[in-house]
Amino acid sequence: MSRLQVKIGELLLHNPVLTASGTFGYGLEYEDFFDVAELGGICTKGLSLLPRAGNPPERICETPASMLNAIGLANVGVEAFCTDKLPILRQRGVTVVANIFASSTSDFVAIAERLEREDGVHAIELNVSCPNVTHGGLEFGKDPKLAAQVTAAVRRVTRRPLWVKMSPEAGDIVAVARACEDEGADAITAINTIRGMSIDVGSARLRLANRTGGLSGPALRPIALRIVWELAAAIRIPIIGIGGVATARDALEFLFAGASAVQVGTASFSDPLAAKKVLTGLRAYCEDQDLSVADLIGRARAT
Ligand SMILES: Cc1cc2nc3c(=O)[nH]c(=O)nc-3n(C[C@H](O)[C@H](O)[C@H](O)COP(=O)(O)O)c2cc1C
Repeated sequence: MSRLQVKIGELLLHNPVLTASGTFGYGLEYEDFFDVAELGGICTKGLSLLPRAGNPPERICETPASMLNAIGLANVGVEAFCTDKLPILRQRGVTVVANIFASSTSDFVAIAERLEREDGVHAIELNVSCPNVTHGGLEFGKDPKLAAQVTAAVRRVTRRPLWVKMSPEAGDIVAVARACEDEGADAITAINTIRGMSIDVGSARLRLANRTGGLSGPALRPIALRIVWELAAAIRIPIIGIGGVATARDALEFLFAGASAVQVGTASFSDPLAAKKVLTGLRAYCEDQDLSVADLIGRARAT
């Protein structure tokens, strides 16, 4: 194994830096900036059974050290992804994690079944934690029984590594993660955004048409780190840390807390090269310290 390689269950990633769902399109949008295949992987925008237009504008606004989004899972749908996007990603040699979303267990299963017919999908990430839709999303991710039910149903129809993405709004996130682990999840990704809102004081109007939106960016990082740390003590399967990762130091915090890999999200909006820079910095750190990524996982000490 090279210094940077990590195993997420049976899946060998050539490094632990991925991009987060919804912040990197379908990967192809970034081709002009760098070779996306250099990353550990990309998580696609959340794919639904049918195409979705998402919420009306305004769907995004900036807040201190963070942003709010209420995109509402606009996406091309799983069929168009398989025919238009995946063949190019496959040809480029990109490691693809298909993030999927549905408002019923049967639709989650149908999307997974469609993906099962394709080569070049390296893992499936279940989004049971989106705060910006009326049905599905958080309903599944807050309840250990429902999260377990979706995980078990998708597990039955896919041989692919199965990751489940946690919501920071689950009352007992450890219980949700454990329930998914028990039903055959190969990894837990943590975390999705947390609901917030913003008001334009001049007009006294809410800044997002959806009223609330998911908070992401550096402001989320301490919350995400705390959750990764708690999960690392409670589950056996690998954890993938997400929340405000913009630099190699941020990624190191997550690895030290017990994550086996990280996803770079909001940082890509202000710097399209953010994920590549995180990877470059991590490689330099490992070489400088003469350590491999596996040595870094869970290094943090309370005292
Ligand atoms: C504009 C936007 C769209 C997102 N869309 C999705 C999505 O489709 N599926 C999903 O699981 N997470 C989605 N997320 C959540 C991110 O993948 C990530 O969990 C969150 O933003 C925290 O990471 P960050 O602080 O690095 O952005 C989205 C986030 C943003 C900002």
